[in-house]
Amino acid sequence: MARTRTIYRCGECGAVEPRWAGRCTACEAWNSLVEEVERPVVAGRDDPFGGGAATPLPIAEVDMEAWAPSASGLGELDRVLQGGLVPGSVTLLGGEPGIGKSTLLLQALAGLAAAGRRCLYVTAEESAQQVRLRAERLGTLPPDLWLVSDTAMPHLLAHLDAVRPEVLAIDSIQTVYEPTLSSAPGSVAQVRDCAHRLVRASKDRGMATVLVGHVTKDGGLAGPRVLEHLVDTVLSFEGERHHALRLLRAVKHRFGSTDELGLFEMTGAGLEGVPDPSALFLADRRPGIAGSVVAPVLDGHRPLLVEIQALVAKSHIPTPRRSAQGLDSGRLALVLAVLEKRVGAAFHESDVHTVVAGGVKVTEPGADLALALALVSARSGRPLRDDLVVCGEVGLGGELRQVHQTARRLAEAARLGFRCAVVPASAPASAPGMEVLRAATLAEAVELAGLLHGAVDGVIDVDEVREPRVRPAPHAISGRRAS
Ligand code: TYD
Ligand code: MG
Repeated sequence: MARTRTIYRCGECGAVEPRWAGRCTACEAWNSLVEEVERPVVAGRDDPFGGGAATPLPIAEVDMEAWAPSASGLGELDRVLQGGLVPGSVTLLGGEPGIGKSTLLLQALAGLAAAGRRCLYVTAEESAQQVRLRAERLGTLPPDLWLVSDTAMPHLLAHLDAVRPEVLAIDSIQTVYEPTLSSAPGSVAQVRDCAHRLVRASKDRGMATVLVGHVTKDGGLAGPRVLEHLVDTVLSFEGERHHALRLLRAVKHRFGSTDELGLFEMTGAGLEGVPDPSALFLADRRPGIAGSVVAPVLDGHRPLLVEIQALVAKSHIPTPRRSAQGLDSGRLALVLAVLEKRVGAAFHESDVHTVVAGGVKVTEPGADLALALALVSARSGRPLRDDLVVCGEVGLGGELRQVHQTARRLAEAARLGFRCAVVPASAPASAPGMEVLRAATLAEAVELAGLLHGAVDGVIDVDEVREPRVRPAPHAISGRRAS
């Protein structure tokens, strides 16, 4: 019988070394060699040319039925997957420890099992009792959901033969291991080898597989993102540990677009879909507060209304503090600089704190204008009117640029009862029931929103800006109306 051989392959250039070294002799990359087991190829079984060959077909005759996705019944998950899990596909579910991956997976499998799909849940981290306890707490013990607590790859493949599942879940890929490799479970070599075998098993059996992968704080998944190109779909499960909100995104999806966003709330009874996130984000908003602006942002295809808050306080340290929670600190710096240079509102003696309420992250430039108005409002102590939303990108020249899909954003705002919007002059759309105020520059927008006077002509009342005074929100804003 032919023997297997251990080799070390460079992750950067692919060179093969007979033994491990700290540096690749071919490309001189440090710490790039990863253990691999080289197996003899057995013709007809492992050899891709020896097995049953595929038959070429006219494209219209390719059978699509075998590819119909199975819905999990978890609406937000099915939305992100655009239907559900496709037979024979491999999905990687990544997220930080404790974010709720096991809970999501168990709920999805319970839904699939309840719909008559035979599912096998391999728990390589927790005991079978722990998982059963969680399933009981979630109120679901369907007969088609099979459970095994195991970690060795040969055992897992044997379980597949015994149970013959249509859906397999491995929780997690970092804790299963291949005994022929000497590297520890969770190492790049182990993760890649186990994933390879599972991908092969899924394709051979037409079984949908979900692999759970822990992600570190900086977003890395078991070393150099070794799995992303192996699998069909990469899902990322995110959220703030201190908030109940969880966001599910497709980073890669071979069966559809990656634009859908799924939103869940972690409750005492597991994850619950959030069909109306904007209402959730705005539920605790207090009217009439200076420094609070509502912005309709887009996450993928999904419009979300978020509250952007700013607090400006006199600084007592030489380098004033700048904090941006849920916002990009680079964009905050840019908006502050444009406000100083183009509007005449300086913040160099103030500490500036900004947050997006509700634990969401807003990275798109479409929130620039809302951030700028929140800052000026906080600086002047004047609130904006309560039924106002703001969207637009701020350019370095102080000009406002339109953002894509303004109409959808405004429609979502109108649905939640907002009646007035400040948008860039070039923005094409208006929305029914919405008074649309257009501004070409940031200075104009600041005036339109009723925050400063004279900003456009560069003759703002400096005392008024320097000394905050609380005034009631103006109810009627005299501004340019949309034609
Ligand atoms: P878990 O799914 O184990 O996270 P992961 O697999 O990503 O590490 O769950 C994480 C947290 O969720 C856990 O600390 C407890 C909490 N949780 C709830 O709040 N409600 C629930 O119904 C369940 C099952 C978990
Ligand atoms: Mg877990």
